[in-house]
Amino acid sequence: MKILMFVLFAQLSKCEDLSAKIDYELVETLFNYEYERSNHSEDVVTSKKNAFSITVLSDVPVLRQGMLDIGPDTYYFWMDGRKLEELEPGVFDNQNITEEIRLERNELTVIKTGTFKNLKIKKLDLAYNKITHVEEKAISDLPNLWEVHLSRNKIVQFHDNSFVNTPSMWAFDMSCNKLEKLGKGWFRFMTKNKTVIIGVAHNEIREIDSGAFEGINVWNLALDHNKLEQIPEQVFTKNNIQLLYIEDNQLESLPEGFFGQKNLTEIGIRNNRWGSDFQRKLEGFTKEIRARTSSNSVSC
Ligand SMILES: *[C@@H]1O[C@H](CO)[C@@H](O)[C@H](O)[C@H]1NC(C)=O
Ligand SMILES: *[C@@H]1O[C@H](CO)[C@@H](O)[C@H](O)[C@H]1NC(C)=O
Ligand SMILES: *[C@@H]1O[C@H](CO)[C@@H](O)[C@H](O)[C@H]1NC(C)=O
Ligand SMILES: *[C@@H]1O[C@H](CO)[C@@H](O)[C@H](O)[C@H]1NC(C)=O
Repeated sequence: MKILMFVLFAQLSKCEDLSAKIDYELVETLFNYEYERSNHSEDVVTSKKNAFSITVLSDVPVLRQGMLDIGPDTYYFWMDGRKLEELEPGVFDNQNITEEIRLERNELTVIKTGTFKNLKIKKLDLAYNKITHVEEKAISDLPNLWEVHLSRNKIVQFHDNSFVNTPSMWAFDMSCNKLEKLGKGWFRFMTKNKTVIIGVAHNEIREIDSGAFEGINVWNLALDHNKLEQIPEQVFTKNNIQLLYIEDNQLESLPEGFFGQKNLTEIGIRNNRWGSDFQRKLEGFTKEIRARTSSNSVSC
């Protein structure tokens, strides 16, 4: 009992003494492909040569400029569930993170202008936060970025220039948010070199601008569980969609261009308000196509 009390006390006082320090774990790759883990407690999160990942272990409500010093190439920066409320723009400037920044399950509310810029990362994961706004140019000049997760936030505001100069962007997931529309040119930031994936299921989308997907070519589009009463023809005629999910909306019919899609291989159409004539036409068209019958596996 005495020992336990001592240990508890020691840990409590340790927390207090080091309250300004940030605890983190570094994993380094050794020559023989083995890993070496080490824990650190510093004012500034600092990486080492051969660092594979950095995982922040203490709760840090605000990540400020100067708190990171990631010089040598480091693949992963992970900071999940650390009660992070705010990212000061510039905190990631010149940080040599090459694969992924993952800040899942925090308390972030706004992604401010200039927060993620001039980085080499391929993947950015901000899912399970409380983000309502992604400001203009919040994410810019990331030549290798190809996958972004913003799902399970509360996003109401997004701009046609929230992302700028991200020419490799291929997979974008913003499902389970509060979007009410998809505006003109919103997805122009995605790559023009190949067909892309867009997930905006489980929002409150009532309106899709006819130019929402202009400049890109979508092959996997999830619009299910929204409030759509119509979908503009251009969505079907200007893309080469193979997987299309529009179930659980308020659609009564679809424009003629829908039936011109030649490459559809899977579709989800259940739980709309199809009129009986339209329903028959739809069944005729979709009988050769695999229908998704199970409900969307996403739950928000
Ligand atoms: C670093 O600290 C974490 C959390 O306290 C612990 O789970 C992990 O085992 C530690 N790693 C090393 C190498 O001591
Ligand atoms: C990033 O890491 C690479 C390889 O370790 C190094 O050549 C380069 O100078 C680093 N960049 C910065 C800004 O530290
Ligand atoms: C896209 O394709 C063009 C022409 O082939 C090429 O120059 C460019 O680097 C590619 N961009 C990306 C992001 O892959
Ligand atoms: C179907 O896909 C093929 C190759 O994936 C493409 O060449 C063709 O243009 C597509 N057809 C339509 C109607 O988009």
